[in-house]
Amino acid sequence: MKVMVVYYSMYGHVYKLAQAAAEGAASVEGADVILRRVPETLPDEVLEKMGALEAQKQQADVPVCTVKELSEADAIIFGTPTRFGNMCGQMRQFLDRTGQLWASGSLVGKAGSVITSSATQHGGQESTILSFHTTLLHLGMVIVGLPYTFEGQTITDEITGCSPYGASTIAGGDGSRVPSENELAGARYQGEHVAKIAKKLSS
Ligand SMILES: Cc1cc2nc3c(=O)[nH]c(=O)nc-3n(C[C@H](O)[C@H](O)[C@H](O)COP(=O)(O)O)c2cc1C
Repeated sequence: MKVMVVYYSMYGHVYKLAQAAAEGAASVEGADVILRRVPETLPDEVLEKMGALEAQKQQADVPVCTVKELSEADAIIFGTPTRFGNMCGQMRQFLDRTGQLWASGSLVGKAGSVITSSATQHGGQESTILSFHTTLLHLGMVIVGLPYTFEGQTITDEITGCSPYGASTIAGGDGSRVPSENELAGARYQGEHVAKIAKKLSS
């Protein structure tokens, strides 16, 4: 059973969540987990102006995803930073190349799940995940979220991301906040949950 975590991360926050989700998925027996990033669409000059070159270098070892690889996965966890309450353009462009998968029904009946990051606490994490689900439903995927059995979902003693729609982190206005232990635990839980559901779906 192949579980793919495919993401875009400009400054590394979604990358950390994606790694945690991959870890969670790998804890399920029989799960073969791969981590992939979607192709960059911005030139280096723009990434430099956005202060993103260092974070990009740190992800250089992560292979860039191909559309064919998507079709070979039994379950896919998508990671994207929020852009005005939606997925980022890099992820949108990648998904817009999946027309063939839609036409052949390659992803129908497979688990699909989303994790995200935003700068601010109420900056659109839930709208990013829920609007992402529209695309997954068009592709015929079975939507998987982050259930309330993840206990970190209900804590109130600290500021935290994560909702029933999916794990998330708050990067901070200047991007200096790193994913908290609770947010990473949410991503791990979601990864494990997706892999368990994928196992049932493919049995
Ligand atoms: C064009 C643009 C739009 C953004 N829109 C939002 C937004 O609507 N809400 C928000 O809280 N953060 C917004 N952000 C901040 C990003 O979501 C933040 O940098 C990201 O979550 C960090 O994750 P990453 O390190 O994985 O890229 C935006 C950033 C950019 C560049």
